[in-house]
Amino acid sequence: MYSTRIAGIGHYVPERVVSNKDLEKLMETSDEWIQERTGIKERRWIDPSTDDMPSTMGTKAARIAIKNAGLQPEDIDFIIFATLSPDFYFPGPGVQVQDQLGIGEIGALDVRNQCSGFVYGLSVADQFIKTGMYKNILLIGSEYHSGGLEKTTRGRGVTVIFGDGAGAVVLSRSEEKGKGILSTHLHSEGKHAKELALIGPATNRWVDTIMKESDPEDTSYYPYMNGNFVFKHAVTRFQEVIFEALEKNNVGKEQIDMLIPHQANLRISQFVQKKLELSDDQVYNNIMRYGNTTAASIPIAMSEAHMEGKIKPGDLVCLAAFGSGFTWASALIRW
Ligand code: UT7
Repeated sequence: MYSTRIAGIGHYVPERVVSNKDLEKLMETSDEWIQERTGIKERRWIDPSTDDMPSTMGTKAARIAIKNAGLQPEDIDFIIFATLSPDFYFPGPGVQVQDQLGIGEIGALDVRNQCSGFVYGLSVADQFIKTGMYKNILLIGSEYHSGGLEKTTRGRGVTVIFGDGAGAVVLSRSEEKGKGILSTHLHSEGKHAKELALIGPATNRWVDTIMKESDPEDTSYYPYMNGNFVFKHAVTRFQEVIFEALEKNNVGKEQIDMLIPHQANLRISQFVQKKLELSDDQVYNNIMRYGNTTAASIPIAMSEAHMEGKIKPGDLVCLAAFGSGFTWASALIRW
């Protein structure tokens, strides 16, 4: 069996910065409320006049990751793309990245696990590499939330939280034992699927049904989130899945050099940090600047932490995510 190492990493966020003050002009909210409840100061939202889309942002992040890995696009032999906001309803953006990078007719897989999408994708890539099936896999998490949010007071509970952006990693085969991805842990609980969801459009609500209904009170085109309910589950599942990874690898929480939680809410990250008794240096947060970018949040945070020299060779890095589905997941990596 081979090991899977993170060979290169990169991220891309749209240039347009949307502050909490900007949102005050669109809805009844306040900078104070948003910062106190979520830690968010600003987020990036795509400027629709640019070519930024989930696929193109993903490709931009991917080019950086491939370069950092010392590879060329043609060295990639499989693509995994995690998003809840694909350019098209179908096909998923994996194939668009294959085209945009101008690489051969390699496989492209789309992962639909929302905030846990990147860690799920990491697990899939790890299995393909460990077994020798592929050598270099490009894994992307990319989201374009802002186009689909309800930018009114009715939608404020969801809209103020989410941002756009993309992160990517190149995962490569390694023969070094005890290094790279040590383990991944995946979970779901579909009975809570509607607690954080976008219900229409979908296969059970195709456009003709929607057109017939066309009720101005119908909010099903917008994401819905039962915030308190999600929060309570998030804090529990984050802890559980981190401990699961630590136990599997027989390491203590104090040995974590860097925890990169999915950037759902600064209060959730701080709660988990406190429960695990980790110092500020052991946890990376950037939700203040980007909001919640769902599948892109972990790779963007990991890319920034790496650029800032906060992840060094030999470090024990823990990734953990929780989100819509519900799904949750963790990964332990020896960098
Ligand atoms: O990434 C996927 C996983 N997602 C998460 O983990 C998110 C988990 N949930 C949360 O982060 C929090 O529940 C939120 C940040 C979404 C909301 O914070 P909260 O402390 O749970 O607030 P709440 O929903 O209980 O709302 C409190 C009050 C309500 O007013 P009343 O009923 O007390 O009068 C809301 O209407 O705050 C009001 N409110 C707002 N006020 C100003 C809700 N959104 C806003 C807003 N600005 N944007």
